[in-house]
Amino acid sequence: MRRRERSFSFEVAHRYGESVLRRFYQPRYAGRMDSATVSASAGNPACGDTVTLFLRIDGVTVAAVSYLACGCPALVACCEALCELVDGKDLDSAWEVTDEAVVAHLGGLPPQKVHCSALAAVALHRAIWRYLFSDLEEEHK
Ligand code: FES
Repeated sequence: MRRRERSFSFEVAHRYGESVLRRFYQPRYAGRMDSATVSASAGNPACGDTVTLFLRIDGVTVAAVSYLACGCPALVACCEALCELVDGKDLDSAWEVTDEAVVAHLGGLPPQKVHCSALAAVALHRAIWRYLFSDLEEEHK
């Protein structure tokens, strides 16, 4: 039994790599942010994974960022990478962060896990959009 657990860990480590596993096991940005200026969610119906991203915006700067993720280790690592890329940046720079940038920041993902980066990026762009255009959203309700 113990042998199986170990081989599973080795297999997971081999599949994801150190960059993903380090962020999965030692997340720095995970958690709800009660003081968020704005939040937004994204989900993938195919795998069932979801993420909610929280931004605290001070002027035009992302003063704090966090997330709640329900999904695979790659999704958690993608959220961590995305938070590293936008934390302390201005909104223009944060808006430029793409799913490809997230994957590159992680040093790559297994091909079947590349879509996890899109969830994090979509949540980010929805949050920024909502922050910038919340007045329009209210008008069209
Ligand atoms: Fe779908 Fe990770 S498996 S987001």
